[in-house]
Amino acid sequence: MSVTRSAPLLALAAIVAAPAAPAADAAAGKAVFDKLCVACHSLEQGSITVGPPLHGVVGRKAASVDGFAMYSQALKGYNVTWNAKTLDEFLENPMGKVPGTMMVMPVTDAKERADLIGFLATLKGK
Ligand code: HEC
Repeated sequence: MSVTRSAPLLALAAIVAAPAAPAADAAAGKAVFDKLCVACHSLEQGSITVGPPLHGVVGRKAASVDGFAMYSQALKGYNVTWNAKTLDEFLENPMGKVPGTMMVMPVTDAKERADLIGFLATLKGK
């Protein structure tokens, strides 16, 4: 009896013990970037392509790159500072989170998102 009663508890313990967010792998995140983002985003400071450069994106306000004239009203009105949480929410479903955005590339896999955000966070400094 004790075995059958404790089995659900053990399962619960396993769930609780599992890390909520796996540690980001920045190298894997770079590979995700090269697969899904590089067509429209540069990583270099100030380098504008189809989208705004993502250098320094972590820690800056949404739609705040000087010189990128094509921000949508939707993104301009999305009043967040990009961090691990806001990027995760946005990248999971950009057009769902910010209806009207021109950023159309979702990253549906949570692990890929975490790695990607970990990689973006390394792109800091002038
Ligand atoms: C088809 C082109 C395209 C692709 C592919 C693309 N983006 Fe974008 N991205 C844009 C455009 C255009 C904007 C500006 C959107 C707006 O103003 O509504 C943008 C905006 C963003 C922003 C907000 C930047 C800011 O300055 O506020 C982030 C973050 C972002 N993209 C991340 C990504 C990531 C990460 C990927 C790869 C998973 C990606 N994008 C793929 C075109 C693209």
